[in-house]
Amino acid sequence: MSPKNIRIEVMNAIEHKVDGFIDSFLIPIEEIWQPTDFLPDSQGEGFMEDVHQIREEAKELGYDFWVTMVADTITEEALPTYESWLMDVEGIDQHDGNKNGWSKWVRAWTAEENRHGDVLNKYLYLSGRVNMREMEITTQHLIADGFDIGTDRDPYKNFVYTSFQELATYISHKRVGQMAKKKGNTLLGKMCTIISGDEMRHHLAYREFVKTIFGEDPSGMLLAFADMMKKKIVMPAHFLRESGGSIGTAFETFSNCAQRLGVYTAQDYIDILGKLNTYWDLASLRSLSDDAERARDYLMKLPDRLKRISDRMKFPEEQYHFKWVEANGII
Ligand SMILES: [Fe+2]
Ligand SMILES: [Fe+2]
Repeated sequence: MSPKNIRIEVMNAIEHKVDGFIDSFLIPIEEIWQPTDFLPDSQGEGFMEDVHQIREEAKELGYDFWVTMVADTITEEALPTYESWLMDVEGIDQHDGNKNGWSKWVRAWTAEENRHGDVLNKYLYLSGRVNMREMEITTQHLIADGFDIGTDRDPYKNFVYTSFQELATYISHKRVGQMAKKKGNTLLGKMCTIISGDEMRHHLAYREFVKTIFGEDPSGMLLAFADMMKKKIVMPAHFLRESGGSIGTAFETFSNCAQRLGVYTAQDYIDILGKLNTYWDLASLRSLSDDAERARDYLMKLPDRLKRISDRMKFPEEQYHFKWVEANGII
């Protein structure tokens, strides 16, 4: 059977578990937090005062911080790209009434994710620290440019990607929240912490999807995992650009900024890989093909290999001036 047909068969075989995944890892809409729970109530008397407080607190945070916040927000706001990409994956079928569990998952996951860009965008607008028009142009560019994360329509590769990426966003939102809190910005700290909690639940779900696939097709799953790591997991915003810029040009500069600030580093990438290797228990997989044995070997040695490379990596210290944020000298 072709790898594509095996994948469709595996996706169909585990589809009956998806309702259980939705119940375990997502929160019903009427019970979950909403953006307005963390923002000034625009119908309330104290609105102007609350906004004033946000603007005062925002003065304590510096240029690299805001650049990172803007890029994180834009990444969240490019959600249409991610939903449409996932809906096109083999085995995920949105044209099947409401019967396909996988498309139900994608929609419910999207609904949760949608609140992230929403709350962050409103906060940034109120903070007065961001050139919103420039940010909006970048968001629109990113959605129009789409992405290519090297997963094709393969569910195995896509779920490796999402397992990895959800943990990466957990780390970066959590660190941004801690920084905000440290500077006395309690509201922003709370917002980022609650978002990071969502990302963690999503990570736990996607890594469970992969674990389940390992139970059905260990060799195929291992080969897909190794293939993704050979290509490197690119960030969803890897095509980021500013107004007037060409595709992808803003991404590296932003990554350097996040690395400098310590929000998401090369070491985090290695740690995520190590955690996935452990959770998927690569060492105890049995009945592997020869190719898959080699893939396992590669994956188990990869964290140490990447560590040696990252120790030699240098990141530029100089600050590039993004159009999204005015430089103010505060770090
Ligand atoms: Fe998110
Ligand atoms: Fe997420």
